[in-house]
Amino acid sequence: MINSNTLRLKFLDFFRERKHTIIKSSSLIPDNDPTVLFTTAGMHPLVPYLLGAKHPGGVRLANVQKCVRTVDIENVGDATHCTFFEMLGNWSLGDYFKNESINWSYEFLTEVLQIDPKNLAVSVFEGDSDAPRDDISAKVWSDLGISKDRIFYLPKKNNWWGPAGATGPCGPDTEIFVIRQNIGCDDNCSPACDCGRYVEIWNNVFMEYNKDANGNYEALKQKNVDTGMGLERTVSMLNGCTSVYEIDIFKDVMNLLRENCSVQDEAIAIRGMRVIADHIRTTVFLLGDEKGVTPSNTDQGYILRRLIRRALRFARQLDMRSSILTDIAKIYIDVYKDIYKELYTNCERVIVELEKEVKRFESTLQQGLKEFEKLLKYIQNSRISGKAAFRLYDTFGFPIEMTQELASDNNVIVDMDGYENAFKEHQIKSQAGAEQKFKGGLADTGLQTARLHTATHLLLASLKKLLSQDISQKGSNITADRLRFDFNFSRPLSAIELQEIESMVNNAIDANVNITCEEMSLEDAKKVGATGVFESKYKEIVKVYTIPGYSKEICGGPHATNTKELGRFKILKEQSSSSGIRRIKAILE
Ligand code: SER
Repeated sequence: MINSNTLRLKFLDFFRERKHTIIKSSSLIPDNDPTVLFTTAGMHPLVPYLLGAKHPGGVRLANVQKCVRTVDIENVGDATHCTFFEMLGNWSLGDYFKNESINWSYEFLTEVLQIDPKNLAVSVFEGDSDAPRDDISAKVWSDLGISKDRIFYLPKKNNWWGPAGATGPCGPDTEIFVIRQNIGCDDNCSPACDCGRYVEIWNNVFMEYNKDANGNYEALKQKNVDTGMGLERTVSMLNGCTSVYEIDIFKDVMNLLRENCSVQDEAIAIRGMRVIADHIRTTVFLLGDEKGVTPSNTDQGYILRRLIRRALRFARQLDMRSSILTDIAKIYIDVYKDIYKELYTNCERVIVELEKEVKRFESTLQQGLKEFEKLLKYIQNSRISGKAAFRLYDTFGFPIEMTQELASDNNVIVDMDGYENAFKEHQIKSQAGAEQKFKGGLADTGLQTARLHTATHLLLASLKKLLSQDISQKGSNITADRLRFDFNFSRPLSAIELQEIESMVNNAIDANVNITCEEMSLEDAKKVGATGVFESKYKEIVKVYTIPGYSKEICGGPHATNTKELGRFKILKEQSSSSGIRRIKAILE
């Protein structure tokens, strides 16, 4: 039986024997990368070395890296998604390339882990205008005995990795899957299908490109290998588990949760227990990190706050005492203390901060949930008003995403624009005195905001054109520095789609189009095909802003007068905002 510790040791030994230097896991808080909140992969802290800087450990490295990915937070509770996970990785910094990398992966999987080669399938990059088809990797696999029908050629969407943030090293990859016989479709489907037949366990990325700020892929001076294997998923697969929560790491936590769970509905119980187990594990790693984050209302601290509050809400749903969260945190510290010593060193901070945050939220959670129930009774048009959502945030401490999730569980939505407005109004009031300070910059700020506003219209038009006409605005927030735009769409956008959206907006900018504004009745606006959301907010006579050939939207303005004023449009980030809602942050350079 291979448990998580045996897998860590076997992996590191294997690569140590092959002359790799074993390096320590880096902090979960990335250095020098404002485009991501957390370390999401083992390669992330190695970016400077993948770009050519000399690493003190040499040109062959391996480690186990702690990672946090929160894009799939709503999926936590199913069998495979975790917000924290460990990634086993090996790297070549301009040393070995495809042949050795693939051969070693195969040897480790089939000889050390004893996976039957008959159950392996692989995918390789099919090629496009940025990089050629990866026939070399396919040949290496074929020479190892992987049959042709188990080698799949897939597009960039599936077989290209990175960059980790907006820019940086990236390249085609070859992914290794274990086939679960009798699960999902039959042999006619491919690893691109999400039926569950193919479980990805290892990803070997051949990082030979750097994506620059303009979205171009330039060849790197050194050809690198970056591989990543998910520890939890691999242990789970090796032990024939039906979910990652059955592996050794979670055993004591899941047992404790089970003992304390008296809810009859098994599906609710399982989802709730997994969410708590996952969120408190991530909480322990964030609070205990060498760069120790604490709960707050911004950036990493806000994600941490959401995780703790969400865990507490689920504990309440399962009728559990809130102190169970501390008990779980203590179990995790014990489980990991020999591997991640910082958790032990910082154990006091972990427990104190967790309890503080639980206490902060506990006193208002019950009342807030009651308030939410009341809201549901008086709700109009299946929509919770922005003001009500803001009150849940301001008075009861409900992160807006929690309100959105509760709303979606009850088949209603939250007026996000209204929420943003209420939020801004509150900020203006509470910063009344500070306003004078900004007066000097107001003219410029206003112009830049207007430009970003026009960019938002172009963004929406491009999303509709490329992805689906059903897309509409679900929220928009513009500051002088950036735009933030929420829209309905059911999955993350691929790197290639994001690039395409950027070019569509930039093409519109380059077309030097004059923006026009007309006032008309709401009825006429609809007749001329203007896009508009939250119609109830609009008065009888509305303004329609037109960017001829691109967009027509009902909007209060103000906007730029010509698209050429916008400069260069650049997407910084695409992420989940809540269930079924995506969020794009972008700037004008
Ligand atoms: N960076 C790649 C991944 O995260 C391989 O390590 O999958």
